[in-house]
Amino acid sequence: MTEDRPLKGKVALVAGASSGIGAGIARTLAAAGASVALVARRERELAAVEREVAAHEVPVIALTADLAAEDAPQDAVTAAERALGPVDILVNNAALARTGPIHDTRPRHWRQAFRLNLDVPFLLIRAVLPGMRARGHGWIVNISSEGSLLQADWSAPYSITKRALNALTAQVDIENRHLGVRAVAVLPGWVRTDLAQDPEEFGVDVDRLLDPSDVADVVLWAVTLPPRVGVGPLIPVRPVSRNAQTAVNWEQYLRSVRHYDTVGGHMLDATGMPE
Ligand SMILES: NC(=O)c1ccc[n+]([C@@H]2O[C@H](COP(=O)([O-])OP(=O)(O)OC[C@H]3O[C@@H](n4cnc5c(N)ncnc54)[C@H](OP(=O)(O)O)[C@@H]3O)[C@@H](O)[C@H]2O)c1
Repeated sequence: MTEDRPLKGKVALVAGASSGIGAGIARTLAAAGASVALVARRERELAAVEREVAAHEVPVIALTADLAAEDAPQDAVTAAERALGPVDILVNNAALARTGPIHDTRPRHWRQAFRLNLDVPFLLIRAVLPGMRARGHGWIVNISSEGSLLQADWSAPYSITKRALNALTAQVDIENRHLGVRAVAVLPGWVRTDLAQDPEEFGVDVDRLLDPSDVADVVLWAVTLPPRVGVGPLIPVRPVSRNAQTAVNWEQYLRSVRHYDTVGGHMLDATGMPE
């Protein structure tokens, strides 16, 4: 391990790596020397991130896949490990930001959110854990949300899946940390990405939001801690400028994301349903 490339020789798999926070994490881990497997559905965006990662002169593979599909999580791990070697750092970042009131939430949309935001992390974790346990080291990094800590109307099923993801993280951590396999959930406040559309429209100054690289820096900090150190497992990361991350902004955030479905970037109607 060298100081400027602390992750040299490590393999990271980033689920949801084609934009926003996931792309930022992939770039940061690559800059620290990790080989990176990128997974997402949008081929062109993924290829652009692949080029940025490759510029750090680390091995990289881009896997175009809908992780919500039946065998996709296991297939992604198999392909990543075949190309790069055993996964040392799994980053569960892909998520569907579907929000709305319970009485207007269709069962199909509830299931989609649980599939991508909870089942997929579970399946990816399950695919990498036996190897990590056997090798005696590994990191599971789940990207949750500060919204998982707040009770707000219009926030389900997103906030419920993220709360469950926090619980999954704590469970994985307690079951595996004595073997050298640690788990953290990083809980960002509002980050400047495509997830929340047009913050200005909702009276939010984008310059006061977090940048994806801020979240990526926290992930890098965690995964480069010495083996004797446990953190979290929940790590909130908030913008702290004067008018950021107030209750009002959480409401604004919900209003901003509820019209947008990250699956294919479809705009939703006023009740959170695809138009
Ligand atoms: N932005 C915020 O303010 C904020 C705050 C708290 C937490 N978060 C969390 O941060 C994470 C990343 O969000 P973001 O803000 O960076 O939004 P984003 O730019 O929309 O990123 C979402 C990523 O997930 C991928 N993805 C979505 N559905 C997928 C699927 N079915 N299969 C494979 N990949 C899929 C997307 O790629 P494709 O579309 O190419 O598949 C994209 O790479 C999410 O877990 C979100 O809940 C964000």
